[in-house]
Amino acid sequence: MSGHGAPLPMMARRGGTLRGVAKVPGDKSISHRALILGALAVGETRITGLLEGQDVLDTAHAMRAFGAEVTHMGHGEWVVHGVGVGGFAEPEDVIDCGNSGTGVRLIMGAMASSPITATFTGDASLRKRPMGRVTEPLTLFGAAAYGRSGGRLPMTVVGAAGPVPVRYAVPIASAQVKSAVLLAGLNAPGQTVVIEGAATRDHTERMLAGFGADITTEDSDTGRVITLTGQPELRPQSIAVPCDPSSAAFPVCAALIVEGADVLVPGIGLNPTRAGLFTTLQEMGADLAFENRREEGGEPVADLRARFSPGMKGIEVPPERAPTMIDEYPILSVVAAFAEGATVMRGVRELRVKESDRIDAMARGLEACGVRVEEDEDMLIVHGMGPGGVPGGATCATHLDHRIAMSFLCAGMAAKDPVGIDDAAPISTSFPMFEPLMEALGAQFVRGGIS
Ligand code: S3P
Repeated sequence: MSGHGAPLPMMARRGGTLRGVAKVPGDKSISHRALILGALAVGETRITGLLEGQDVLDTAHAMRAFGAEVTHMGHGEWVVHGVGVGGFAEPEDVIDCGNSGTGVRLIMGAMASSPITATFTGDASLRKRPMGRVTEPLTLFGAAAYGRSGGRLPMTVVGAAGPVPVRYAVPIASAQVKSAVLLAGLNAPGQTVVIEGAATRDHTERMLAGFGADITTEDSDTGRVITLTGQPELRPQSIAVPCDPSSAAFPVCAALIVEGADVLVPGIGLNPTRAGLFTTLQEMGADLAFENRREEGGEPVADLRARFSPGMKGIEVPPERAPTMIDEYPILSVVAAFAEGATVMRGVRELRVKESDRIDAMARGLEACGVRVEEDEDMLIVHGMGPGGVPGGATCATHLDHRIAMSFLCAGMAAKDPVGIDDAAPISTSFPMFEPLMEALGAQFVRGGIS
């Protein structure tokens, strides 16, 4: 929900090490999709391991507003009674997606090809983010959207009464845009085709196939061509949500930079469209071991062991890898600060329109901690100071961004002096148990600012 309570300053300081098993929560991307597709199926979908972070709770609330029955059975277990493709009811009130770009963009897609009208809003972070990238293709189906200047929320979407299928080449690397078009295509007769130049996370395609939709993906010279046949009857599923690699990134990266650390994260989702961070860390010389590789709920998973890696070197991260690690650049920049030499991250302009401008947030915070950085519109370079070499001793602004907050707390676990953040509250959007989980490993957090 968009109401944001009082800020919660917090700091992390060096001391002890990190050891043990870190059980990270369910995947945020998969959790949103499980609720939305469950709501569009006919009958009862059962979900286990759902992320119970605020972003996903807001999507559950929204699905109820569109007419689905969504029941919390306890501890990650949820049941959704769907209304079928084309069965969404018109919500009686404004849909508040809180902090979640994924929630609002996917839900806009899911309702845009039905003859209903919905108004969407979110918190101060979400109200700054561009929605035109989604509403533009949705108008091709016959929908209309009226928002604030720059395509910002609050925004009203008038769904198409007689939707037509669409062929759309996504102009940016965005799984949210791709998914919004595919979800709108569900209620359009005939074939909706989405072409993406760079492969982005494919959870929507995998899950649509699991629910029985006719969907194919082919690689061509122009990119991935995804073809969906509209108006299927989606069959309800049992979905086991794997652990989120983007959340796992925090205990894993903290282990790499804290002296003596040895952490095991079981059951991490390792979908190749999400695993770019781990490839990058290995290229830098990180001590990572993937154990017990297996498949769960249609997604590849493994247990990941991460150990303190004092020999890490800065590298040039290939720009074409960006879509597979787009949410991991903040924590990668922290690891880079503790490596030797420069880590060069190019092709990352999308970071400027996430929950915050993540290039700016990381650059300012790292500078305040005594790290030299260079940036331009599409690039960030971090000049590493070696293991234990980051001075710290600053309070970093998190701009309502959970990943910025967790990144700087990880930096504080290894820096010479403590690192504070102005607000830890947004962490609950994706990783509600971050603080106790990291403390159980040995992290030293103090609520309140650096005095
Ligand atoms: C997501 C896609 C990515 C990512 C976000 C989750 C998704 O956004 O940053 O956290 O679940 O589809 P973009 O589609 O804007 O790249």
